[in-house]
Amino acid sequence: MATTTQAGQGTTTGGGRSPFLVELYRSALGKKYIMAITGIVGLGYILAHMIGNLKLYQSPEDFNRYAEFLRELLYPIAPASAILNLLRAVLILALIGHVVAAAQLTAMNRRARPDSYRSKRDYVTADFAARTMRWTGVIVLLFLAYHLADLTWGWVNPAEAGATPYEKVVASFSQPAVAAFYLFANLALGVHIYHGTWSLFQSMGWNRPGSSRQGLRLLAIAFTVVVIGGNLTFPIAVQVGLIS
Ligand code: HEM
Repeated sequence: MATTTQAGQGTTTGGGRSPFLVELYRSALGKKYIMAITGIVGLGYILAHMIGNLKLYQSPEDFNRYAEFLRELLYPIAPASAILNLLRAVLILALIGHVVAAAQLTAMNRRARPDSYRSKRDYVTADFAARTMRWTGVIVLLFLAYHLADLTWGWVNPAEAGATPYEKVVASFSQPAVAAFYLFANLALGVHIYHGTWSLFQSMGWNRPGSSRQGLRLLAIAFTVVVIGGNLTFPIAVQVGLIS
């Protein structure tokens, strides 16, 4: 017989309880932890990626050497590209975990929402943040698909076959429509990571009364401004001829 768990979110069979981690994942809190942990992985990546891309301002050689360095991380201790592929696997798992937990959390919230019960105002406010996260999340996913096809696989990149990473970036961002798309997608990413960092603080229990909420808000703003500010400069720099 199926019984509802203490958290009221999952079910167990035969009256027994599932292992703690399974029980935790079935609860809304467990899913929020997954979103927070996978979100931190993503935030770490986009910060490191933006800092690495600043080499575009140094010289083509420095940028290309950096791209090569990523492929040869820990070589010859590990085979060439092994560490990069490991990092890619972590990133893909984090992305899948983030999207799946978000979808399940949305479905759970929908089921739990007593529509006639809530005041109109709370409903609208909560729904706005959730809708914003969903839409900006979808835009970032579409951007990522294009970005990989553009700069990693080269399928939609106008540079010649065998072009260096630097040449591919310049060829891509020289197209005004593509540069505009990168700007738009990075602004959507900015909204997503600002709201995301804020709810991450809440999920981890750091955003309590008495804690320095102002400090946390400033941290979320500073992180977003640094990462997105840096990313926005690249397509603009190519368009104005600073990077060519
Ligand atoms: C305008 C800002 C950006 C620039 C100039 C840029 C540049 C690049 C370049 C040159 C590559 C190919 C590296 C190589 O294969 O050698 C790359 C890969 C990648 N970028 Fe970006 N990127 C930008 C923004 C972003 C953002 C915002 C995200 C995430 C939301 C992102 C995620 C990735 C991922 C996941 C890869 C594949 C990494 C790999 O598997 O090797 N990038 N990017």
